[in-house]
Amino acid sequence: MYLLIPAAGSGRRMGSDRNKLLLSLLEKPILTWTLLAAQKASSISDITIICQPHDREEIEIIVDDLKLTKAIKIIRGGSSRQESVYNGLQALPDRAEKVLIHDGARCLITPELFDRCVDSIREIQGLIAAVPVKDTIKVVDEHGIIHNTPERSKLWAAQTPQGFDVKLLKECHEKALDNGWKVTDDAALFERCGLPVKIVPGEETNLKVTTPQDLAIAEFILRGR
Ligand code: C5P
Repeated sequence: MYLLIPAAGSGRRMGSDRNKLLLSLLEKPILTWTLLAAQKASSISDITIICQPHDREEIEIIVDDLKLTKAIKIIRGGSSRQESVYNGLQALPDRAEKVLIHDGARCLITPELFDRCVDSIREIQGLIAAVPVKDTIKVVDEHGIIHNTPERSKLWAAQTPQGFDVKLLKECHEKALDNGWKVTDDAALFERCGLPVKIVPGEETNLKVTTPQDLAIAEFILRGR
């Protein structure tokens, strides 16, 4: 299975002036942890890392140090995650029928979750890993006033991996470009195009490292493994 790893973001919400994926978590760059899980997932054969040109050299060193046995490509990211994934899709070979996309920032993923997603995507057109929401979620207007309270039993927190039929996802991305749709994950594009996306049980620990607090929680989880 082909895996795209968007890794072309910044460290703004982390309060860092560099790509947060290059920051250290238990003495290894965050991206290293993500790559180690992908390396251990037997169903993943090809990994494409999508990064900004100014991070390329550092990411090449990370990849070389890990001596990964999968086929690795490093390509140029865009100014948004959506653009970065678009570039990743264009870089896939024609023979790629299905693809998994996993944010580099979700560095606590287990190899088992990768493998479960690969098993499921072979049968269907679109899926995401997700977990049921524990908090009651409020929809709030621009004045800070609650607009409504969606029924919690129907709410799931989206994670990655997200898996798709490559041809369909490429078509969705082209439609998004034509219509100016801006989304924060690929499932949202599939949904807008009326295509089904199935939920695969994610992992509570598969958090996206975004803030310094997340880094502390990630360290705690890794120490417990
Ligand atoms: O910023 P956030 O953590 O939500 O980004 C999700 C993922 O998308 C991260 O792994 C980040 O590196 C990646 N990204 C990207 N290209 C961008 C912005 C974010 O590949 N321009």
